[in-house]
Amino acid sequence: MSSHLSTNGSASRPVTIRDLTTAKEQGERFVMLTAYDHPTAQLLEENGVPIILVGDSVGNNVLGYDSTVPVTLDDMLHHTRAVSRGAPMPLVVADLPFGTYQVSADDGFRAAIRLVKEAGANAVKAEGAGPVIDLARRLVGAGIPFMGHLGLTPQSVHQMGYRVQGRDDEGADRLVADAEALAAAGAFAIVLEGVPSELGRRVTRAVEIPTIGIGAGPDTDGQVLVIHDLLGLSAGPHPRFVKAYADLRSEIGGAIKAFQHEVADGEYPGPEHCY
Ligand code: KIV
Repeated sequence: MSSHLSTNGSASRPVTIRDLTTAKEQGERFVMLTAYDHPTAQLLEENGVPIILVGDSVGNNVLGYDSTVPVTLDDMLHHTRAVSRGAPMPLVVADLPFGTYQVSADDGFRAAIRLVKEAGANAVKAEGAGPVIDLARRLVGAGIPFMGHLGLTPQSVHQMGYRVQGRDDEGADRLVADAEALAAAGAFAIVLEGVPSELGRRVTRAVEIPTIGIGAGPDTDGQVLVIHDLLGLSAGPHPRFVKAYADLRSEIGGAIKAFQHEVADGEYPGPEHCY
C-alpha cells in the first residue's frame, strides 16, 4: 500500500502530518523542497511535492544576504503568504527566523501563531534543541505542528560555521538524544542537516517520526533541497550534498542574451507581436 505522498501530480487532498508518519511506517521515501514565491509553490504542487518549506534560506537565495541570520519575521510572513496561496495541497512549513525564539518560548509561540494565522503555514520549524524542546511541546499543545532541525543549524553560523556536526561519539550521542527529546515533545519530523551518513541512519532508526536529510546521507526517511540549488539557479560554490537537476542559470542567461540580440538586430518585436 502506498501512502498519500504522491510523486505524480497534485495530491487529491491536503497532505497531513499523519501522512508523513504513515510513509515512514511503510518505508516510503519522500521529498521536501523550499519555495519562497507563488509560481514556485504552484510548480511544486503541480508536480506532487508533498511538503514545501518556506525556509529562512530565502535570505541567501532571494534577499541577497550571506546567511539566514538577518531574515525577519516580516520577511517570513510575506513569503509564506505567497507560497500558501499557491499550494493548497502540500504541507506548508514555515521557518521561525533567527531572533524570534532564542530569547523566550513566549516570543517563539507568538511568532508561530502569526505564521499559521496570518500567513497560512500548516506547521513551523525551528533549529536546535535545549529550550526549543519546550517551545515544541507548547506549540504542539496549542495545535501547531512542529518540525525540528538538528545537526548543522545555519542560524548558528557565527558559533558553529557551516561545518558537518556529530563527527565524534559525544556529538553524535548528543544529537541522538536531542532527536529523541524533540520526538517526545511531539515534533512530527526532524530535518537533519550536515551530519555523517552513519549518524543520519542512527537517528532515523532511533525515532518513530520521519527524518528529512540534507547532507545526512541516504538513509533518512526523506530528503530536502533548496529549490534554487536543485534547478541550477544558485551561483555557488555549493556544499557537497547539492545535486542540480537542471541548469536554469545558463538557460535563463541564454534567453536574456537572445532578447538583447534580437532587439539590437531589429528582429523583436516581429509583426506577430504588434497591434
Ligand atoms: O531554510 C532552509 O532552506 C532549511 C533547509 C536547509 C532545510 O532550513
